[in-house]
Amino acid sequence: MTVSSTPPPAVADAQHADTADTYAAYFAFRDRLLGELRTTVLGDAELREAGSLIYGDPERFALYGIPAPRMAAAGVRLLGRTTIECCIDAFTAPVADALAGIQATAHPAGQEDGQPFVADLFCGSGNFGHHLGRRLGFPAYASELDPAVYEATRNNFDRIGSTIELVQCDYRDLLGKLTPRSPRDTYAVEPPWGPAFTPAGLDLTRTSPPVPDIVDAIRRSRGGMPCYVAVKTNDQLAHDSLARSFAGAHHLRSVTPPPSLPHGANMDFHLYLLD
Ligand SMILES: C[S@@+](CC[C@H](N)C(=O)[O-])C[C@H]1O[C@@H](n2cnc3c(N)ncnc32)[C@H](O)[C@@H]1O
Repeated sequence: MTVSSTPPPAVADAQHADTADTYAAYFAFRDRLLGELRTTVLGDAELREAGSLIYGDPERFALYGIPAPRMAAAGVRLLGRTTIECCIDAFTAPVADALAGIQATAHPAGQEDGQPFVADLFCGSGNFGHHLGRRLGFPAYASELDPAVYEATRNNFDRIGSTIELVQCDYRDLLGKLTPRSPRDTYAVEPPWGPAFTPAGLDLTRTSPPVPDIVDAIRRSRGGMPCYVAVKTNDQLAHDSLARSFAGAHHLRSVTPPPSLPHGANMDFHLYLLD
């Protein structure tokens, strides 16, 4: 896991050791998950296959501390789309650790001014908010627009005893409900990529909704109070879309999990301070 204070280049090196077969198998499976299996709750065999094809090992595909081979037995329901879109434990836990370290330095004990919250604006599985909330020790809220994803995640939160307050709504409605409480309030941002994910890289200005619009909406909801934002991208960003999305914000840290997929299909995470 690489943790860096330098934002990634717009287009990273094209070096990778993956074979054409790896590309083909992964992208074919990805197409199935986002297509015919999009709203299907995956069974045990498909969850294991997802772990193998996406992360090289079924055990590595873990959410809420539950690895893929135990998910079905634990009653965890994952739709095809969420299986490809989610942030696994091995990625979100280091991001939460990095943010906890940053906040501990920037906000020494005794200077708190209200109970901060975590808001997972594009919940999906909710695993991003799950790890941020637990590691930071903040209550967490989440918005999810898709009723099928909402139902599956509602089930999962009940199964694991999560206290995340999950609302089926547009992220802007959640922003409207959350009065700013503290400069340590933290927002997880990961909208669907859709057509923004191209061979030329991920264009954050073309996600649905665009990341710059989301950042603006967060800023408007804050009434001038600073906050933290954690955003997930891939490892091949188109043009300067990350910097453009966070214009005027301070890049704090990027967390780069070891790649397991062809270049462009791996995940990166970036932490920003909006002030
Ligand atoms: C890329 S996924 C997020 C994955 C998530 N971070 C995880 O770890 O599982 C994006 C999610 O946002 C939801 N979504 C899309 N538009 C939304 C909106 N306007 N407001 C709230 N949720 C939305 C989608 O239904 C999808 O489940």
